[in-house]
Amino acid sequence: MKAAAQNTGDQETPEFKKDEVVIHVKGLKKDFIDKKVLKNISFDLKRGENMVVLGKSGSGKSVTIECIVGMLKPDAGDLTVFGKEVTAMNDDELKQLRMKIGFLFQSGALYDSMTVRENLEFPLTRVLKLKDQQDIDKRVEEVLDAVGLLDAIDKLPADLSGGMRKRVGLARTMIVKPEIMLYDEPTTGLDPITSREISELILHMQKKYKTSSIIITHDMECVRITADRIVVMDDGTFIAEGSYKELQKSANEIVRSFFTETT
Ligand SMILES: Nc1ncnc2c1ncn2[C@@H]1O[C@H](COP(=O)(O)OP(=O)(O)OP(=O)(O)O)[C@@H](O)[C@H]1O
Ligand SMILES: [Mg+2]
Repeated sequence: MKAAAQNTGDQETPEFKKDEVVIHVKGLKKDFIDKKVLKNISFDLKRGENMVVLGKSGSGKSVTIECIVGMLKPDAGDLTVFGKEVTAMNDDELKQLRMKIGFLFQSGALYDSMTVRENLEFPLTRVLKLKDQQDIDKRVEEVLDAVGLLDAIDKLPADLSGGMRKRVGLARTMIVKPEIMLYDEPTTGLDPITSREISELILHMQKKYKTSSIIITHDMECVRITADRIVVMDDGTFIAEGSYKELQKSANEIVRSFFTETT
């Protein structure tokens, strides 16, 4: 079997400003009526970096990235993307921001009445306002090929399996080549081979386009393939940060527990 690609973090190019912070979060708090979900979240995401977030179900991972794209309003803390405070943005500024951030929802979400091709053309014509049909076709085919679904180009979402729909969702997010990608469980529900391909695609996006990404996952192979840095979330705070090798040896049992089922 082919050895999985691994993120060695050494494919930098001269124009790659290594320390530029694209997302800055400090002391982020978010309560819902009956529950304190985010208690104190702080991190910086750098340009071209893949940061993986590990954490138990319900620990607040999705809520964190929903705050970043302005879908949820935090109760306290700093939250800046490309140097601008997200909570102070008006609707227009939020729209601009969302054009630079690709968000792969945990649930996927395709337009059911549109074919795969139409689903992929949508962000190109509506968001990027592209007009050249040849260019559009080329980009649609390129991204579908990358997720291994060129054959499904004329199918409707209802005719695809769950895993295929997930890959189309990923293709639709990637097609606009956003500067930041937020992946919420990109490989959940996929078979091991497809999961590995998706993880390698995430790595490829980072290397080719210098995409900065937050990847929420429980899939430890995905972590191994994609992560430059891992943070572990528990009960609304980050309890550990480090590389795969460092966290594997952590003295904290909760941290270590994520690494026990892998070789
Ligand atoms: N819009 C909302 N209104 C009220 N409560 C919410 C809302 N969104 C999330 N929550 C609650 O916040 C907590 C954290 O949810 P979140 O979706 O961030 O968990 P998660 O870490 O992503 O879990 P999973 O691994 O299961 O996806 C949960 O208790 C959830 O019920
Ligand atoms: Mg979640």
